[in-house]
Amino acid sequence: MKGIILAGGSGTRLHPLTLSVSKQLLPVYDKPMIYYPLSTLMSAGIREILIICLPIDIPLFKKLLGDGSALGCSFSYAEQPEPKGIAEAFIIGKKFIGTDSVCLILGDNIFYGSKLNTLLKSAENPLGGVVFAQQVSNPQRYGVVSFDETGTAVSIQEKPKHPASNFAVCGIYFYDNTVVDVAKQIKPSARNELEISDINAVFLEHKKLQVIELEAGDVWLDTGTIASLSEASQFVETIQHRQGIVIGSPERIAYEEGFINESQLRQLAEQYSLSGYGDCLLKGLKP
Ligand code: DAU
Repeated sequence: MKGIILAGGSGTRLHPLTLSVSKQLLPVYDKPMIYYPLSTLMSAGIREILIICLPIDIPLFKKLLGDGSALGCSFSYAEQPEPKGIAEAFIIGKKFIGTDSVCLILGDNIFYGSKLNTLLKSAENPLGGVVFAQQVSNPQRYGVVSFDETGTAVSIQEKPKHPASNFAVCGIYFYDNTVVDVAKQIKPSARNELEISDINAVFLEHKKLQVIELEAGDVWLDTGTIASLSEASQFVETIQHRQGIVIGSPERIAYEEGFINESQLRQLAEQYSLSGYGDCLLKGLKP
């Protein structure tokens, strides 16, 4: 399975923070935002990853993440000159996806939970699409999925004024290869974007969309506003300090997933010996 991180957009809800810096490069506590979705993809066992961003930001993401080989992965980069919609990722990424299935994650979504990687790995071979949902207090801001009395998903709408449920669709999506054709079929919405909810609605109509509810203890945060960005930073700080672990670290996930060995992790940690991140990477390992 291939992975795509969508890290473009104009970040207008974070201005002036994002006037000269990509949103997905802003810090979420002690790491750049993109580290979190990257770690999530890697914890689902995905090693071939395409990062889609504004043309001007490609050198910056390359400087940060390189070609992925140090993490036992392969990273490539593609441009999305304008934010024409999340679903455009499958059109931009068509060649990269090839004949494989694909997982798309939004560059500003953060996931955390002890059993989450098992749950994500269960979506590895989707027949159609697999998406995740969680109850939120402000469903109007999200793609909203509603269920019938048997728990089967019956509708998906993007940012409805009158939501049919409180279940928001999270920003991580697994599809089989047919998603590329579905993305080509859908038309731009009233706000002139190719909507991911329209892709999901097509799979739902063909009874090929599985909607999995995240467990109550699983954490899903987005970081698109000042308040949510600040909350996400506080969350990461609290968990890391309280539990003495590091979360959202691609280096650490590469080690835990067996993409790199302990001596490779130690080498990576050395370059961060002055910032404290190096110590974070080695937490729990014998000295
Ligand atoms: O967070 C989950 C929600 O994400 C879903 O429930 C919605 O269905 C989905 O549309 C999306 O809603 P948002 O309003 O949060 O999307 P936003 O426009 O903020 O974009 C999310 C991320 O994707 C953000 O990091 C910017 C990036 N993006 C977005 C668009 C539209 C791009 O890179 N290119 C784009 O064209």
